[in-house]
Amino acid sequence: MDKFIFRNGDEMPALGLGTWKSAPGEVYEAVREALKIGYRHIDCAAFYGNEPEIGRAFVDAFDSGNVKREDLWVTSKLWNNAHLKEDVKPALGKTLKDLQLDYIDLYLIHWPVALKPGVQFPSSANDFLSIDDAPTAATWEAMEACVKDGLSKHIGVSNFSIKKIRKLLDNCEIKPEVNQIELHPFHQQPGMLEFCNKENIVLTAYSPLGSPDRPSQFKDPHEPSLFENPTIAEIANANGLAPAQVLIRWAIQRGTSVIPKSVNPLRLKQNFDSAAILLSDKDMKKIAALEAKRRLITGKFWDAPELGYSMSTLWDE
Ligand code: A2P
Repeated sequence: MDKFIFRNGDEMPALGLGTWKSAPGEVYEAVREALKIGYRHIDCAAFYGNEPEIGRAFVDAFDSGNVKREDLWVTSKLWNNAHLKEDVKPALGKTLKDLQLDYIDLYLIHWPVALKPGVQFPSSANDFLSIDDAPTAATWEAMEACVKDGLSKHIGVSNFSIKKIRKLLDNCEIKPEVNQIELHPFHQQPGMLEFCNKENIVLTAYSPLGSPDRPSQFKDPHEPSLFENPTIAEIANANGLAPAQVLIRWAIQRGTSVIPKSVNPLRLKQNFDSAAILLSDKDMKKIAALEAKRRLITGKFWDAPELGYSMSTLWDE
């Protein structure tokens, strides 16, 4: 299994299990099964609403000897409603309680967007805090305190642009070690990959399969399918692979971590087996040519120009 080695020697397996959209009632079995298959990296977030059930799966997996805590990499994310300095540690405390862990391996700021405490999802601009009222630098200081207090081994960001990471790097004591963003053949972000490699930041690919199961209000009915793309299908057929395996292996082989979500035992295994495949340079180039700058998770739900949030300020594009 490819892995990323951090400055302190900690190792994060390149392939992890995504849990966004893994419903309560399904995610316990998915995590237990994944740990039996050999997954050692589980990607979580408070916002996904399933951390208590994932915590039960961890406890039972540890008790039954499937895996030891120290052999497992667990990531979670700070939700947007806890960006105020005083709210960060309690938010991580809640995640640790839900996951039934003493520490997590990686804590990420989920989005560079702040909501008022108590707001899960905004229904109007009134639900946001402006960046002046909740500056990222202050949130980051509280993230650093989580490392100092031993609650998270590593900290990073998610959905951050190069510009926002640069600003953090210029002002931080502990550098962000990971940026988790949308990455797949239709949205490859090569500039971000180059920047992160240069800055020693691990890039993690979310929605590597295009997240076809996401809620319809966040979906363009005409969006292209990665699974049905003729190039992906052709490479899959020629190598006796499933399209999902081509997508996962491509992500690992270009040097990113990747967190495909599944709650299906056969697909969990199929996805895990992608880590051991090798794609030819020719196939890697064919996939690189699919770049369409096509973001599927547009972030439109964070549009609140009155408070300084728009698509251009979000992605800095
Ligand atoms: P399921 O959970 O039923 O397996 P993403 O990781 O980009 O968010 O995509 C997750 C979606 O892809 C889910 O609908 C998941 O369904 C599906 N999926 C995961 N693995 C595979 C696979 N190997 N083949 C086909 N679909 C898959």
